[in-house]
Amino acid sequence: MKIGIIGAGFVGRAIGKLAVRSGHHVMLSNSRGPETLFSLRPGIGCEIGTAEEAAAFGDIAVVAVPLAAYRSVPVAPLAGKIVIDTDNYYPERDGQIAELDSKATTTSELLARHLPRSRIVKAFNAITMNDLESDGRPAGSPDRRALPVTSNDAEAKAIAITLYDEFGFDAVDAGPLQEGWRFERGTPAYCVPLGKSKLERTLASTIR
Ligand SMILES: NC(=O)c1ccc[n+]([C@@H]2O[C@H](COP(=O)([O-])OP(=O)(O)OC[C@H]3O[C@@H](n4cnc5c(N)ncnc54)[C@H](OP(=O)(O)O)[C@@H]3O)[C@@H](O)[C@H]2O)c1
Repeated sequence: MKIGIIGAGFVGRAIGKLAVRSGHHVMLSNSRGPETLFSLRPGIGCEIGTAEEAAAFGDIAVVAVPLAAYRSVPVAPLAGKIVIDTDNYYPERDGQIAELDSKATTTSELLARHLPRSRIVKAFNAITMNDLESDGRPAGSPDRRALPVTSNDAEAKAIAITLYDEFGFDAVDAGPLQEGWRFERGTPAYCVPLGKSKLERTLASTIR
């Protein structure tokens, strides 16, 4: 699969590296231009490009930018595509976003509104990238961690679950995108190592 990644920081690089290891073709991008990502090509074994180029390159895309920048994610080249949203809301970094402060919506629904023709799936947001790179285990391992996913699109969910599995993690389907608050920043499941049944119980008992 070709995966275009928008954002080449901790998340873009970790997902890029693991995806290349799993046999995918990856393009990493940022806002400053590919000349600032020069060493990633040999380092990770990926392509580098602009955000527009990465969006066009991918069969699917990953958004891994500070949430404050979500409105600059290219819209047209992502039309019809599955887009994995890894973003989290940190007001101290992103500024206050009234709709999130009032709990009227979720971070991934904001991205979905910006990309109305894309198929958004919320994944990879509730684990630190250090853990993503170190905690993967083969399927069936007793200590295999599980990670949550939400989407309104069954195929988008399936793609994210496949990537979780390839990277060494089980998945818990937490429902449609509007349920994403269950594993946003500060919730009991956020960046906490949990096995599948414990994660299911934790998500179900989380109070908004
Ligand atoms: N770090 C973690 O462990 C972790 C885990 C899960 C989720 N998250 C979430 O994932 C997102 C990314 O986190 P991160 O830790 O990877 O952040 P980061 O290290 O600061 O990286 C952000 C990347 O996005 C790029 N970027 C910024 N504005 C952009 C724009 N308008 N268009 C294209 N690229 C842009 C930045 O490069 P330029 O400034 O050069 O454009 C940089 O490469 C955040 O929402 C974060 O909360 C983080």
